[in-house]
Amino acid sequence: MSLFHQHLRRAPAVLSSAWRSLHSRQTVARSITTTSVAQNGSQEVRARPRVVFSGIQPTGIPHLGNLLGALLNWVKLQRDASPEDQLIYSIVGWHALTLPQDPKALSVARRDMLAVLLAVGLDPNRSVIFHQDENPHHAELAWILNCITPMGKLRRMTTWKSRLAASRNARDDSEVDESLLNAGLFTYPVLQAADILAYRATHVPVGEDQQQHIELCRDLAESFNRTFKGKRALFPLPQHVITSSCRVLSLRDPSSKMSKSSPDLNSRILLTDTPAQVRSKIRSAVTDSTLGITYDPETRPGAANLLSILAACTDEDVQVVAARYADKGHGDLKGDVAEAVEELIKGPRAEFERLRQETAYLEEVAKKGAEKARALTEPVMKEVRTRIGLV
Ligand code: TYM
Repeated sequence: MSLFHQHLRRAPAVLSSAWRSLHSRQTVARSITTTSVAQNGSQEVRARPRVVFSGIQPTGIPHLGNLLGALLNWVKLQRDASPEDQLIYSIVGWHALTLPQDPKALSVARRDMLAVLLAVGLDPNRSVIFHQDENPHHAELAWILNCITPMGKLRRMTTWKSRLAASRNARDDSEVDESLLNAGLFTYPVLQAADILAYRATHVPVGEDQQQHIELCRDLAESFNRTFKGKRALFPLPQHVITSSCRVLSLRDPSSKMSKSSPDLNSRILLTDTPAQVRSKIRSAVTDSTLGITYDPETRPGAANLLSILAACTDEDVQVVAARYADKGHGDLKGDVAEAVEELIKGPRAEFERLRQETAYLEEVAKKGAEKARALTEPVMKEVRTRIGLV
């Protein structure tokens, strides 16, 4: 069994404090009830099972940040879910269109991403796994939410600026030329809110970079509930579920996050990297010249990033890991990080290579997933249309 799968099977008693805190947060989340605002403004409290929703763009093979910040968490949530919890994971093709894509490459990446989700351990019989672009309700709800979204809120989001900057290889957001901004990129946080709210999701496992999108989603849910009242508030306010490795940094520039769009291929480790590539990328990771290893994200971000990656791979607390390296050098740390990353990805990498050839199976999974997704959102959209008067 690979480290990846062992890691997912561990009993809570032996888990690291980072995972224990995530686990206890989830336990609290599971036992709390969803609060909805009744027509007269008083709070009506009703128990509801959790609805977990998350998404990933089909813009290439996932990197270590996607794995540790999101996908690993999706699988853990699937493992720990109560039978009545719903788990819904989407490959968000419409989001990918917000930046120029080569149609042939997008089509391959879209199918590959489905193979990745299955390879890391998502089970299509337990979780709804589907292509967003095969459920038109997302786009319909996005349009409706666009009509209650203030422009000022979107303008204040930093994500479209950084995506535009990254796509242009600009050094920072201030270099971004707004004339290159398309309306889709500007409003994609609204589409993201629609992705979540169409399922009345309560929990959204994503990395730290998505925080402001979850906040906007909560604002839009609140605004819709207030404006279009019914017997009870329609949309729950979803919670952000994060991991201790919610921001994995670039290996070449630890002042920015690991990202698919960086032109420096050595800045990220991909799920499909060979053991030699993993070793070479980690060996060339930027650290510092201070002797000994300490966990200090402010002044030693490169070393702190490697320690966090190691802690996430071995499911330990980062401070405990750091203590082990207090008297060691960066070379020792890098060797162990490379080994742990290779252990983590080798199982899913092999499974991905096998599954990506199984096109008929992937098509079948996608078809069934889309049917389930549409069946979940149909009643919600019916209620939305009734409340806004489009009936
Ligand atoms: P995307 O495709 O950019 O990233 C997928 C997931 O990976 C996380 N992530 C990281 N986590 C830690 N460190 C990093 N360096 C790192 N880079 C990426 C992201 O936080 C994300 O969880 N807009 C979203 C996709 C989306 C979505 C949704 C998510 C669309 N609709 C609804 C949740 C709910 C995105 O572009 O993710």
